[in-house]
Amino acid sequence: MKGGFSMNDAIEVTKGIYWVGVNDKETDLFEALWPLPRGVTYNSYLVIGEKIALIDTVKAFYLTDLVSKIRRLLGEDRSIDYLVVNHMEPDHSGSIKILKKLYPDLKIICNAQTVKMLENFYAVTEGVIQIKDGEELDLGGHVLKFFLTPMVHWPETMMTYDKTAKTLFSCDAFGGFGCLEGGIFDDEVDMSYYEGEILRYFSNIVGRYSDQVQAAISKLSGTDIRVVAPSHGPIHRSKPEHIISLYDRWSRHETECGAVVVYGSMYGNTAKLAQASARAMAKEGIEHIVVHDASRDHVSFIIRDIWRYKGLILASCTYNTMPFPPIEDLMAHLENKKMRNRLLGIMGNYTWSPGILKKLEDFAKNSGKWELLDPEIVIQSSPKDEDYVRAEELGKAMARRLKECAG
Ligand SMILES: Cc1cc2nc3c(=O)[nH]c(=O)nc-3n(C[C@H](O)[C@H](O)[C@H](O)COP(=O)(O)O)c2cc1C
Ligand SMILES: [Fe+2]
Ligand SMILES: [Fe+2]
Repeated sequence: MKGGFSMNDAIEVTKGIYWVGVNDKETDLFEALWPLPRGVTYNSYLVIGEKIALIDTVKAFYLTDLVSKIRRLLGEDRSIDYLVVNHMEPDHSGSIKILKKLYPDLKIICNAQTVKMLENFYAVTEGVIQIKDGEELDLGGHVLKFFLTPMVHWPETMMTYDKTAKTLFSCDAFGGFGCLEGGIFDDEVDMSYYEGEILRYFSNIVGRYSDQVQAAISKLSGTDIRVVAPSHGPIHRSKPEHIISLYDRWSRHETECGAVVVYGSMYGNTAKLAQASARAMAKEGIEHIVVHDASRDHVSFIIRDIWRYKGLILASCTYNTMPFPPIEDLMAHLENKKMRNRLLGIMGNYTWSPGILKKLEDFAKNSGKWELLDPEIVIQSSPKDEDYVRAEELGKAMARRLKECAG
């Protein structure tokens, strides 16, 4: 039977291409790190020409869902000819070993970087076909072209373009968190929600490799892409160019005119100081201000918002001579991201061991291209009137700079 009647069936993406991906609502942390308030999908696709190719698989736990979708679509006896492995992270490669047992003649299409990983993860060495950048595979009725896109997200990551259907299987690029709850296309779902989750995925998982994302976007620039079919989240068929341009902006570190204020505070004193700077920015006309309590809001949402906006004000109390642990954690994540073109304000609070400001300044230096704004603020225990005045000065200075960059 042809699919499309329920989320348990294959759903046609475009002529000869079917979504056979799965919804994962059971995993609470992606990569055992990132919260999934509305789950995540692993998108696999079947391309049906004279030969049949499966593009990527799903996390091992969901193998039965994948296979039952394929069998309901193709019938029990029809085998798959090729498996294209765009990426070896186990959220996509986890079903390879057993699929190869189910379909012993399956040929695995991958690149030179993938081969050793197939062996090390799954002891798969038979029936592996290595392709080079730009090489094509004719399925009969569909021609697949392979673009190597190393480090978007791992060294072996590649994208597969169906020249016939003008559909790009982009793997992690352009993908995001969130299950597909009935709708699977950008014109069927609330994209304002998914775009936030695509940015959270990009900033936390791929963002460090922004230069390689830029290289991938240039490599694809001459290609006529009508459908972007990523390996997580909705399929972009109504505005494929929109998601590519968002990725282009994010990976060029182009920011929006707004600021994030993050505080680490046990008893509320540091928080009050931080909020004073947020209030000052609002009075100066900055509309986009997000205040995060580093203890309550997961770091992935904080990083997502920091990626989006040009300004960051970081406020930390002192904890056993160190910055407050969630702020330390955030700073370590941010240092790893190699972010550019951003403005930073810092505030510290201590009671008996000075030194917090120096630690925040070190972060400003180590994280590379953040511009540190004046005044830097340090208070003792609780904010006094003159401390609030300085917090307001910092907020105003940030607002001034944000307005300049907004043109
Ligand atoms: C468990 C704990 C450890 C602390 N360690 C330090 C410290 O090493 N050095 C210091 O100057 N203050 C330390 N403090 C004091 C805090 O920095 C001080 O209470 C500050 O006012 C907290 O600001 P808050 O109200 O924003 O939490 C500590 C406080 C607590 C509760
Ligand atoms: Fe990945
Ligand atoms: Fe992935």
